[in-house]
Amino acid sequence: MTKELRLTSAYSKTITTTLLIVCLSLFINLSAETKRPVRAKNGMVVSPSTLATDIGVEILKNGGNAVDASVAVGFALAVCYPSAGNIGGGGFMVIHLEDGKSTTIDFRERAPLSVHKDIYLDEDGNYNPDLSTKGWTSAGVPGSVAGLIYALEKYGTMRLSEVITPAIKLAENGFEVGYDLANHINIFNEDFNEYEASKEIFTAEGDSLNEDHFLVQKELANALKLIKENGRDGFYKGYIADLIVKQSFDNGGYITHKDLQEYNPVERMPIKGNYKGYEIISMPPPSSGGIALVQSLNILENFEFAKNAWHSSDYIHKTVEALKKVYADRSQHLGDSDFYDVPAQWLTSKLYAKSIFDKIKTIATPSDSIAPGIPVTYESKETTHYSIVDEFGNAVSTTVTLNSSYGNKIVVEGAGFLLNNEMDDFNAKPGEPNQYGLIGGEANSIQPGKRMLSSMTPTIVLEDGKPYIVVGSPGGSQIITSVLQVILNCIDFNMDIQGAIDMPRFHHQWYPDEILFEEFGTTHDVISNLILKGHNIGEADSWIGRVQGILIDQENNVIFGGTDSRAFGKAVGY
Ligand code: DON
Repeated sequence: MTKELRLTSAYSKTITTTLLIVCLSLFINLSAETKRPVRAKNGMVVSPSTLATDIGVEILKNGGNAVDASVAVGFALAVCYPSAGNIGGGGFMVIHLEDGKSTTIDFRERAPLSVHKDIYLDEDGNYNPDLSTKGWTSAGVPGSVAGLIYALEKYGTMRLSEVITPAIKLAENGFEVGYDLANHINIFNEDFNEYEASKEIFTAEGDSLNEDHFLVQKELANALKLIKENGRDGFYKGYIADLIVKQSFDNGGYITHKDLQEYNPVERMPIKGNYKGYEIISMPPPSSGGIALVQSLNILENFEFAKNAWHSSDYIHKTVEALKKVYADRSQHLGDSDFYDVPAQWLTSKLYAKSIFDKIKTIATPSDSIAPGIPVTYESKETTHYSIVDEFGNAVSTTVTLNSSYGNKIVVEGAGFLLNNEMDDFNAKPGEPNQYGLIGGEANSIQPGKRMLSSMTPTIVLEDGKPYIVVGSPGGSQIITSVLQVILNCIDFNMDIQGAIDMPRFHHQWYPDEILFEEFGTTHDVISNLILKGHNIGEADSWIGRVQGILIDQENNVIFGGTDSRAFGKAVGY
């Protein structure tokens, strides 16, 4: 989650117990009673943007499959959801096909070939986070264009021109930004003013945007047209590539023509798990998401949660104790598996999970006394999410990102798109936290051509081999805990997809050793009990994750869509 969205108020001083309890019950009642999932028979698109959702549904209605719609939504988000939708960043796609095959497409950014592991350290060896989060030095080699086109060519049914044209029209004709997007863009007004091309698009001649501002992006439209006409070469070679490379060189960045030409998406075997009879299909490294999700579920499977245990101190304690170990393992063992031998099978094994479960006590284990596990021989690994299912039985779960909101805030001059600052997801120095407070070591050190470790967790849960839940979220390190809790809410607590998404969430990531709750996300009684068990409670967060999900009732042939009330997306089915 971006820092600017976090609240700074601590529970103890600012909110009285009574107010907290009243507000919590209001929140729960409202979400449970007034907002119901969207229902449909044929297909469903849930995305963080109403414009992008409508584009995806049109593709489905015109006979496209879920992959066609996902690619169309991916390009549309680059226009109408600029904080995270992108062609200058990367992402992951998890696909389950109607014939039973599951696969994933990794279009994560790569480190440029000229980097080395100490590029963000000064001569005294001190880490300078500005270099990995700001300016051209923070940009990884973009993967989205190659990834979306790969997905379309291999698993889609439509031509590139059909799925990219709606995005081109949106950029060319423009759209009214509206209240929420205007406010979000305006948070970064100062940053956008630093770069002429960014100022041009995301400010009103330097000032904040009004909600009725009409956002026309001619240069972005032209960039998308070049991609439409030339496929991936329209981005990785020629006019756009020349602009990226020249501006990168002029501003101390690392991206070269060779980096762009050599970029390739990778199709990878999904991480698979099983939770209480449901099959989990999720993203393998370079994401930590799939492994961490399956490992968490494997540990928690050893508990039976009664329905009225939801968000009790006992439930939160058990989940948090599991998460501490999962994030400790993440810090040590997870990185790009093309560069580092990730012990995925061991981490996702029931046996290892059982050994962790056996050590969970009724009191908290301080993070200082938890260390990453040592693999043993029984081993034989602002962002946004959208979920889509089609009438043919295909399901696609896609998470894309520029890392921070609007990436490094740099619009490539002449090409109209924002660049990522994904390099900050590497561990620039062992033990130094990145912007999400995540620490790590050798597995996720900077190396030329390597992909930085991600927490993105696009996931599909199968019931009897057919899609049951399609889910994912933004939120940096909080993505994993958000996806986990939505799955638990559906499977263990039998919530509908809208309720499962809207319910308050909590988070723990080993370090810092504290449980975070959302504002009004718990009660004083629960916090007191957790403190009695030895837990530390952090400051309230304004939100933890922004989930876009689908749940399919295969028996009755009904598709339910839910978009997070924390955000401003839309679920539409037909
Ligand atoms: O890949 C990752 O894990 C991060 N770059 C995701 C960033 C993110 O979720 C920001 N959203 N709020």
